[in-house]
Amino acid sequence: MPPKAQMKDVASLSREEARAELARLAKLLHAADKAYHQADAPDRSDADYDSLKRRNMDIERRYPDLKRDDSPSEKVGAAPSEGFRKVRHSIPMLSLENAFDESDVAEFDRSVRKFLGMSETAPVAYVAEPKIDGLSLSLRYEDGLLACAATRGDGTIGEDVTPNALTIRDVPERIRSAPKLLEIRGEVYMSHEDFAALNARQDEEGGKTFANPRNAAAGSLRQLDSRITASRPLRFFAYAWGSVSEALAGTQEGAINRLKDFGLATSPLLALCDGIADLVAHYRRIEEARATLDYDIDGVVYKVNDLGLQARLGFRSTTPRWAIAHKFPAELAWTRLEAVDIQVGRTGALSPVARLRPVTVGGVVVSNATLHNEDYIAGRDAGGNEIRGGKDIRAGDRVQIYRAGDVIPKVADVDLSKRPKGAMPYEFPKKCPECGSPAIREEGDAVRRCTGGLICRAQAVEKLKHFVSRGAFDIEGLGAKQVEDFHGRGWVAEPADIFLLEERDSEREKRLKDVDGWGERSANKLFAAIRERRRIDFHRFLFGLGIRHLGEAAAKDLARHFNDWPPLAAAAIDAAREPAIDDATQAALDGSPAWKEFLSIDGVGRTLVRSLVLTMDQEAERASVERLVKHLEIVPPDARASDSPVAGKAIVFTGTLVRMTRNEAKARAESLGARVSGSVSAKTDLVVAGPGAGSKARKAAELGVETMDEDGWLALIGDA
Ligand code: IVH
Repeated sequence: MPPKAQMKDVASLSREEARAELARLAKLLHAADKAYHQADAPDRSDADYDSLKRRNMDIERRYPDLKRDDSPSEKVGAAPSEGFRKVRHSIPMLSLENAFDESDVAEFDRSVRKFLGMSETAPVAYVAEPKIDGLSLSLRYEDGLLACAATRGDGTIGEDVTPNALTIRDVPERIRSAPKLLEIRGEVYMSHEDFAALNARQDEEGGKTFANPRNAAAGSLRQLDSRITASRPLRFFAYAWGSVSEALAGTQEGAINRLKDFGLATSPLLALCDGIADLVAHYRRIEEARATLDYDIDGVVYKVNDLGLQARLGFRSTTPRWAIAHKFPAELAWTRLEAVDIQVGRTGALSPVARLRPVTVGGVVVSNATLHNEDYIAGRDAGGNEIRGGKDIRAGDRVQIYRAGDVIPKVADVDLSKRPKGAMPYEFPKKCPECGSPAIREEGDAVRRCTGGLICRAQAVEKLKHFVSRGAFDIEGLGAKQVEDFHGRGWVAEPADIFLLEERDSEREKRLKDVDGWGERSANKLFAAIRERRRIDFHRFLFGLGIRHLGEAAAKDLARHFNDWPPLAAAAIDAAREPAIDDATQAALDGSPAWKEFLSIDGVGRTLVRSLVLTMDQEAERASVERLVKHLEIVPPDARASDSPVAGKAIVFTGTLVRMTRNEAKARAESLGARVSGSVSAKTDLVVAGPGAGSKARKAAELGVETMDEDGWLALIGDA
């Protein structure tokens, strides 16, 4: 039997009972934190944890003097990002693909039909609603009670901001008619009026002011002290959902109506649209209404209305196939170009950056903009054609800045009438400004690159910075600044060295704990964070290698296809055995088995494969990756996928599929961890053959590869 105090209402606890209860809660919550953070094995549900936490806070509020030194409400660490409990989203929080004009919208509609095998004329219904410019939040209701509110984070793991979310007036604490489990997703934002009032108040009190309502909303939600959040009026629009114990409706519109019935705020500007003309008409209406709205929007989101079709369309690695964000046009402003700097990237590219007199563009202060490359500065595009009427860009010029959403601002135009006398054309450096090696521009390449390779400090440091960045190894306590410092000390020259830091530390005259800004505790914490990252998701490892053209989405696509590093490395080395890689021989190469395998992967194109193959073909690069791999345990893509009966299997679809399109079958198989290939070989595990299957089915029979029909396949994966 637990002591009585545990069950009592906080209001009726005596002082002594409260003291004992705080001690008990501290013990429980510390143990829960330890299990969660250190063993990565939470021992209680999020809801359970939250209710303990809230009880602890309530008692502390009632008896502030009884608050313990080790109170669980005082979270560790200084930086807010360390202070929030991490939450794994049951369903990832994804982003949206963008459309910038009507042709992008038409392409989206075409791709939806094509994927679903529909005709050009078959109607597809969509809903269109404003894209709110705030930050997304997931609200998890269990038995109708808000159990956890989490930010998006990296899409997979977010931060628990439950007490803060409870201060938002549009976020109900309880939903009476909710299904047992209901995850509501939407956007937290701040109204223009509240933003202006907050900034005025901050200014008066000598506090930090915010550049725009979105930053203000983000800064207010991510406060360790929920009283601060409560003093900042935030709002919330619901527009999506995550895990639910029962389907909300058959359509997007119906589901949104359910959310409205549950008492949530949904967009009043949502409309059901038939086809692209209707979508674009609604876009125009919202664009016109934009100036009258009291909150920022940056486009219109289109979603396929039928939830059955949404399910069939599914997801790419980071975005749904059934939705797109049609963005509003970019914003413009004029300012002075003070200087042109050259940055050397991790792949050696020399990138010119415009240093600007700071200017506000669409609510954001801009002081740097990209100048792309030397042709762009000279007033030419990649094909040698004039841009900006051939006007070049010079230091001192009055320039027009163009900013579209989160994209890096660029210099769009020059006002020649304001050009200072004596301004000289910009001369692009022919040597790397960092290491002095020749900077070469290959034919057909718009970019000039440093040839210093591993001897170029800038390249090495940028590579390391990329390696520890958020989408890659994301090592807590090891950011750009620390990497620069460790590289300067000669401690870390390549990624593998990071994993040797601790071992080598004891042999050094000056140890990390003795370095300025470090101490025993922080050094040990860093070593622990590094140790923790020896176990790394395959896609993070791939992205971390910093290979040109290998972004996060492609890393996920490759990871899903190959499931582990050795088969991918082997395929890249196989592909590199083929003759010289250039445009002339590319067509022949596409037909070779290794290239075919790469190119069959959705989201993987020739440019990426070429770059991957070139990297793996360089002895020094390959050796560096091999040194790194020795320290790691690479985790295959998705634990759920590896439970599926087809995870890691090589599958070929052939003949006509009746119940789904080829693309759909392929996407579904890949989401279950299978590799889909276009040709049958001894490495094939399974052939799914529909009517009319010919040579591939025969080859499968010859090789004794298991073959089944479409119904067998659907039964196997549980979709029958
Ligand atoms: S739907 C599976 N609808 O835009 C993705 N997102 O750029 C579901 N956003 O991360 C998202 N307004 O934070 C959706 N009406 C709306 C939105 C919206 C704003 C945000 C959301 C998302 C981001 C993608």
